[in-house]
Amino acid sequence: MKYFDTHCHLDFDQFDNDREEVVKRAKEQGVEYILNVGTNIESNKKVIEIAKNYDFIYSSIGIHPLDVDKVKIEDLKEIEKLVKSEKVIAIGEVGLDFYYSKDKMEKQKEFFIGQIEIAGKYNLPLIIHQRESKNQLIEIIENIKMPEKVVFHCFGGDLDLARYCLGKNFYISFTGILTFKNAKNVREVAKFYPIEKIMVETDAPFLAPEPFRGKRSEPFMVKYIVDQLAKLKEKDINEITDLIFKNSIKFFLKNDL
Ligand code: NI
Repeated sequence: MKYFDTHCHLDFDQFDNDREEVVKRAKEQGVEYILNVGTNIESNKKVIEIAKNYDFIYSSIGIHPLDVDKVKIEDLKEIEKLVKSEKVIAIGEVGLDFYYSKDKMEKQKEFFIGQIEIAGKYNLPLIIHQRESKNQLIEIIENIKMPEKVVFHCFGGDLDLARYCLGKNFYISFTGILTFKNAKNVREVAKFYPIEKIMVETDAPFLAPEPFRGKRSEPFMVKYIVDQLAKLKEKDINEITDLIFKNSIKFFLKNDL
């Protein structure tokens, strides 16, 4: 069976000691593609470097909302430069996150808008991170031209937000949270959302699915998220695995699949 881990952070220092083995383990267990996602300028550069070493690892470039205090708005020019690097296939992760505080709201908005524009300009898919920021996020989306392809990564919203995303023709993607005991709302969304618009991701090193919960997450664990999705959809695991893989290829790599 084939898997596409559409969102992880192999550049993080949690992988400094065994990055190569982590990648090898993923490949051995059927992970055909990995999208490694940058979070700040340094991270983006590292992500681009890692992609040079493996033919099946691609890069997404962006400033994470919780990293905006490390940058100035002029640094978006640097992002535009990095976007032109080889194997960069998306902009992200970008968005709004007010979980810890609303202090940086204006700066987060400024960066979000700037990076939506970059995605539009280079015709790249956009990976959105959202936490405790639903209304502010919707307000921005309603007032700007969005790129053709948008995914809400690590979907943790409610059915309301899911309905909104569907109305906009966005994709959503699920992490290991889908397997957590207390994640009833997220499972409801998974049951509701059309399978054609769903992708999966590990968000490694975070959010390892059951039975690895609490451990460092790795791309090979993406299988456990797909299996859970098949269970929720009451469909054959092979069929769902194949569909999710094709969705991801179509979204990130080839339009004409
Ligand atoms: Ni992430």
